[in-house]
Amino acid sequence: MFNKKILIVDDDPHFRDILVVCLKRMNFETLAADGVQQAKQTIGLFGPDLILTDAQMPGETGIDLLKYMQSSYPEIPCVMMTGFSDLLDSVKAAELGASAFLTKPFREAELREVLQKALSPAPTPTPTSTSDSHEYCQIVIDDFISGQNLKYNIFIRVGSKLSGFRFIKVAHAGEDISLDRIIVYKEKGLTHLYILMDDFRAYIGLMDKLVSNALKPKFNISPEKKAKLLNHTLELINQELISLPISTESFEHVSSILDTTIKLMTSDEETFELLDSLEKLSEQVFSHSVQVSIYSTLIAKELGWESAATQMKVATAALIHDIGKRQLPAPLFDKRRSKMTADELKLYETHPQRGYEILAEGSKYSSDILQAVLHHHERLNGSGFPNHNMGSKIIPLAYIIAVADEFAHEYEKSKNEKLENPITCATQHILSMKSDRLHGPSVDALVTIFMKKSKQ
Ligand SMILES: [Fe+2]
Ligand SMILES: [Fe+2]
Repeated sequence: MFNKKILIVDDDPHFRDILVVCLKRMNFETLAADGVQQAKQTIGLFGPDLILTDAQMPGETGIDLLKYMQSSYPEIPCVMMTGFSDLLDSVKAAELGASAFLTKPFREAELREVLQKALSPAPTPTPTSTSDSHEYCQIVIDDFISGQNLKYNIFIRVGSKLSGFRFIKVAHAGEDISLDRIIVYKEKGLTHLYILMDDFRAYIGLMDKLVSNALKPKFNISPEKKAKLLNHTLELINQELISLPISTESFEHVSSILDTTIKLMTSDEETFELLDSLEKLSEQVFSHSVQVSIYSTLIAKELGWESAATQMKVATAALIHDIGKRQLPAPLFDKRRSKMTADELKLYETHPQRGYEILAEGSKYSSDILQAVLHHHERLNGSGFPNHNMGSKIIPLAYIIAVADEFAHEYEKSKNEKLENPITCATQHILSMKSDRLHGPSVDALVTIFMKKSKQ
């Protein structure tokens, strides 16, 4: 005995036949229509429990059928089958209330799962449709390189903050994603694609030991605590970005990199505690850390460090560069070095080494992040601390953080002193240190970003 009725709508006779066979095997009663017109004629008579429709068909399309269903039979769920070029249709279909999506080609098991969920009276979120945006990480679309064999499912996001976001799977794990396909996405205005958080850890390869651990990281932090830290940090990032003279493109880019970095850090217990302790230390230290992370990411991008994995490594190292301050007395957190006594200065200059040791005690950070924290106050001419390293003895990641750090301190100081143009003051400050103390190309990169905007 058949349990549910499914109306298949597809103009491809071969594909229709395959679907009929598959659905019969799953014990569904089926009827196949070669297009929207035939479908409309049969819905009333057949009384389907679900419609499985192709998106692209000659004449009326899957979208037209969805519109018709919404006005005439809103109670019948519709599952839309899409190809990669039907991206806009997917977005529109999601807005029109399609129950789920199947990206062609799909496997029988996937078809079964999607149909079962769409037919269940209280559908639970499926991997192809969910409103929980925290499970996903966004990746700048340019990161998907031609011919790259995807190890992960790829999603696009539709909807809005107000109505809630939904995620539609557009590529299966193991598929070859071609440059053409990326170009189609870009032309259709997409700036980001999404992958699941668990896949993301592996995708960026950021935290070496975490990635090599196949097990899901332990996480016993309450959702409220996590949301509080996440929201506060994202708010700070936004506030800072809005105040900067940077292009919309740079704004969106940095916002995306930092957003993902913070989500990743707050999704693992050990890295969560680290960020949390920084936030609790002092508002000034925390906002300084966020600022340095923003400027460092901007510099890395301008220097041509294009890959998301690298940029996230920069953002992470910069965010925790002052973690060693955790072990200093509070009055030293924000005191200017010129105002410190000799003893205070000596203590203050231990914070990079302390930071290195704090991170080395854990298991989540790669050696270059540890080195960047240790070297962030070293200067090219050996005038820095704690080890007076010179030139190539300082790792490149630390060059960038050093420029961002100097800029952030001077920018903050100029704002506190209510100087007329704090950005110009901070820019002049780093330019004055260029070449002998700070890495020239990194200084030029930051100056260029601000100059580009002022010319617009
Ligand atoms: Fe520092
Ligand atoms: Fe700093």
